[in-house]
Amino acid sequence: MIFQENISLAQYTTFKIGGSARFFCLVASIDELKEAFEFAQKKSVPFFVLGGGSNLLISDEGFHGLVIKMEIRGKKIGDRSQKLEVATVSAGAGEMWDEFVEWTLVNGFNGLENLSAIPGTVGAAPVQNIGAYGTEVGQFISTVHAFDTHTMKEIELNARDCHFGYRNSMFKHEKGRYIITHVDFALRNDGKVNVEYKDLRNYFNDQVTITNSQITPLQVREAVIDIRWNKLPDWNTWGTAGSFFKNPIVTQEKFDELKVKYPGMPSFPEASGGIKIPLGWILDNVCQLKGVMTGGVGTYEKQALVIITKPGAKALEVVAFTQDLMKQVKEATGIMIEAEVEWVN
Ligand code: EPU
Repeated sequence: MIFQENISLAQYTTFKIGGSARFFCLVASIDELKEAFEFAQKKSVPFFVLGGGSNLLISDEGFHGLVIKMEIRGKKIGDRSQKLEVATVSAGAGEMWDEFVEWTLVNGFNGLENLSAIPGTVGAAPVQNIGAYGTEVGQFISTVHAFDTHTMKEIELNARDCHFGYRNSMFKHEKGRYIITHVDFALRNDGKVNVEYKDLRNYFNDQVTITNSQITPLQVREAVIDIRWNKLPDWNTWGTAGSFFKNPIVTQEKFDELKVKYPGMPSFPEASGGIKIPLGWILDNVCQLKGVMTGGVGTYEKQALVIITKPGAKALEVVAFTQDLMKQVKEATGIMIEAEVEWVN
């Protein structure tokens, strides 16, 4: 295995920001992963697993340990369960998420279509419990295969072990312990779609010739790609990691108080309790912060929750800008917001 030194990380992130990794390697198998982990131990440096780099903000100073670029690949359709319409479909952690989603649909398995066009890798999907347009990936995960760095063993975790929540999972709390190598999904082939999310409902309502029962999973994929394309910035032009913050979840009491002051404030009850408020709406309608730039960093003109950067922007500028947003939201609403993007230094 080759361990490179002082590799610039900006090229590996969608923010296109960040200093260098002290050590860097590509890992294409579990044996290579073990070797990389042992290398970090021998050098007494921390390690960090890099997927698609789409949810990271890397400091201008970079990372002083080993960056392991996950390249374990492979996709396969496994056994069908007793329930004929359900099949296990598996992928290596290094597969690109959206290529995998397309492949499942082309092979006749539905479920992941609402999660189309999300950048990143299969291995990163469970960590974040990626979600969009009324679907979260945790609903479709049957088993996560991981390397446990505490016991040096390969382990299998079922969906319950993963403790999936809104943009949350056990992997975020046991940081660095488990390195995901493969993910198994339980997908269906009944062609059923979920178009309840407002943007999707509006999209198909505009197409008067189609009724809900005629909408296919592949059409939902096309709709999601279209909606995202129109609402999110072009990743080739701007540096961005999509939504920078999580939508806050508040108590009913807090929401009632805010609703008096801001009657138009949208809300979504959370299954786990509490009320989710779209932060994009707050930034836009309460703080008037949609489409504002400070130097090389700003909020996107069509979606205030999305932070964008111009080429050459520094991580420190992003930190200063987003801390200011946090302060303004706190002052206007009393809510402490939390970053969704992971800070690496
Ligand atoms: N809104 C505004 N102004 C804005 C932005 C949003 O008024 O500037 C309003 C919208 O009109 C809508 C509500 O806020 O009524 C929610 O907006 P949207 O549907 O765009 O969704 P979101 O809550 O801002 C979440 C995810 C996105 C995902 C979309 C679609 C989080 C943190 N973000 O955004 O995920 O694509 O829903 O399902 O939960 C990501 O994680 O990087 C990401 C892009």
